[in-house]
Amino acid sequence: MDYQHNLAQEFLEFVEQQPRQSLQQLLSRVLQKSRLLTGAEAGTIFIIRRKRGGAYLQAVNAQNDRIHVNAADFEVPVSNKTISGYVAATGETVILDDVYGIGAGKPYSFNPANEAKNYKSVTMLCFPLKNYTNHVIGVVQLINRIGPDKQPIPFDPHMAAIVAPVARVVGASIERTDMMDQIRLKNKVLQNRNRQLAEQRGHIVNLQEQTEGAFLLSVGLLARAAEIHDEGTGNHIVRTNEYSYFIARHLGMPKQFCDEIHYSAQLHDVGKMSVDQAVLKKKGRLDDAERAEMDRHTTYGHQILCDSPRLQLAAEIALSHHEKWAGTGYPNGLGGKDIPISARIVQVADIYDALRSERPYKAGFSHEQATDIILHGDDRLDPREHFDPQLIELFADLHLGFARIWDELKDPPATAAS
Ligand SMILES: [Fe+2]
Ligand SMILES: [Fe+2]
Repeated sequence: MDYQHNLAQEFLEFVEQQPRQSLQQLLSRVLQKSRLLTGAEAGTIFIIRRKRGGAYLQAVNAQNDRIHVNAADFEVPVSNKTISGYVAATGETVILDDVYGIGAGKPYSFNPANEAKNYKSVTMLCFPLKNYTNHVIGVVQLINRIGPDKQPIPFDPHMAAIVAPVARVVGASIERTDMMDQIRLKNKVLQNRNRQLAEQRGHIVNLQEQTEGAFLLSVGLLARAAEIHDEGTGNHIVRTNEYSYFIARHLGMPKQFCDEIHYSAQLHDVGKMSVDQAVLKKKGRLDDAERAEMDRHTTYGHQILCDSPRLQLAAEIALSHHEKWAGTGYPNGLGGKDIPISARIVQVADIYDALRSERPYKAGFSHEQATDIILHGDDRLDPREHFDPQLIELFADLHLGFARIWDELKDPPATAAS
């Protein structure tokens, strides 16, 4: 039940985060989020369109952690013959443990022609996106839930029960965005819709969810507050959460750990709140004493966070995210597996994002450059000194997932008014 609440809450929050986003952006984020929450390696999201000849599904976005796929470019008729067509036609959710072994009793079959090159689909969760009047407006098809040994495992049937109410809310939002794209709805209408959405939400949340929401909100605000004096870091903290969650999941960490790091990673630099402001804001080189004060953001962060039972992981991350694998980091000079795995994960996330980010004194690196530095180092960073080798290996396999998180959550250009 808890899981269901959190999931619904999370989806609602993220759908509402950017009410002005385009349909394309929203669908890509819905797909991304659905994959993160269910552990699916790949997926496609479809929207129903109507032509003279009848309804069809237009694939609007496709994603795959393992291979490069085109954003999406094909159509499927709404009919019982294909899996997604069946889901669109009936509004039912379909879970398959082997798409190539569908029983003879089913009207649909898997069409290998739609399979990406050099990729094999095994398990599938396919669910409809419905609007508030219960009409199917799209379909999400998730492929290959990845298990701890990196092989596809079946989607859990209770995931289907969880996505149903969530898909409703997301579907309504997609419909809203689609309308905006198509007929340029005025702001007023949008605000009305948002109010309705908020009201709807008010009906379905209970006190416990509100408490959970308030907790997550406070944690997010704390992280934001801490970076207020930092150089323009924008969405850095949000992205750090996502990369860390992505790594933890692919590492096969327990679900509770993954959920916790998902909101804890953003607090890694929270101790900067306590650093002497003169040091924090100083533009030039820091002398030894100033450097030592700056480095204490790790222990300060731990002090701020360690009292809360739900922030133990965050406290651990804050304390140890500047330790290095070789034992040459601070504050405690821990090395290897003495450094908590949470901190080792956040370190990779933090550094990838720092490399990509533009700062007053440097342009941002491309994904290729950042990947090259993390894998092979440069004059400032030696990956063998810094990182857990297991995580470098994982990064080498899954670096495209990092690029996608960056692309989806990157900061708007500095010139844009906000
Ligand atoms: Fe830090
Ligand atoms: Fe950071």
